[in-house]
Amino acid sequence: MLIKEIIVSGKINILFPLPLDMTEGQRKSKFLRSLSFLFQLTFKRMQKIVIEKIPEGTILDIGGGGEGVIAQIGKERVTAVDKFQSEIDEAKHKAPEANWVLADARNLDFPDEHFDCATAFFSIMYMSNEDKKEVFKEVYRLIPKDGEFWVWDASISKEQGVYLIKIKVILPNETFVKTAYGVSSKKQTVNVAREMLEEVGFEVEIITNNKSWYLLKAKK
Ligand SMILES: C[S@@+](CC[C@H](N)C(=O)[O-])C[C@H]1O[C@@H](n2cnc3c(N)ncnc32)[C@H](O)[C@@H]1O
Repeated sequence: MLIKEIIVSGKINILFPLPLDMTEGQRKSKFLRSLSFLFQLTFKRMQKIVIEKIPEGTILDIGGGGEGVIAQIGKERVTAVDKFQSEIDEAKHKAPEANWVLADARNLDFPDEHFDCATAFFSIMYMSNEDKKEVFKEVYRLIPKDGEFWVWDASISKEQGVYLIKIKVILPNETFVKTAYGVSSKKQTVNVAREMLEEVGFEVEIITNNKSWYLLKAKK
């Protein structure tokens, strides 16, 4: 998604306008968050992420709307679940062969072990830590023993303000997707994710972990 589109769509809900029913404190906080967001959008370095492959077999992609990166790669093998129709609509035309499902990933209407594996590409950063745990339990239920759950996400260590990551993703067919993902800050480093996944029962292997993002593979 282009920077201009992000601003115009108000997708990251921290920008103007400042509603009149807000208190002075709320308006000031929102204004500062907007400034911080725009600053990061302008000055942060773009991170390059090369995806050489995604897991084999059928894939449950958590929070798969937006750019629909995993669906663009895996096509008909991918069932992309997102809780917002607007996010599905944005992604659907980029990967029309994928199965698009409007649902909350904390509670999905599929039988146990329905998928061979699962992925989450910069979607768990949009969940509270409580929600992440519910989603991880649901993924554990939906893949078989030895099935893998691959998670790409932002390494966020600050707990206040807004956080934004700009990425250029190189897909296996060598096309690329440029986008930016922004959220309210929350501590969600690879170790926080690893601990939660292990609590649910996964064995975790960290594949990449740098200052801005990580890739981990969790095995049931
Ligand atoms: C950054 S966006 C899209 C990332 C996407 N994987 C891509 O390739 O661009 C993260 C998505 O996660 C979705 N999401 C957050 N919490 C969710 C939940 N509990 N269930 C389903 N989708 C969720 C949001 O609606 C949002 O579309």
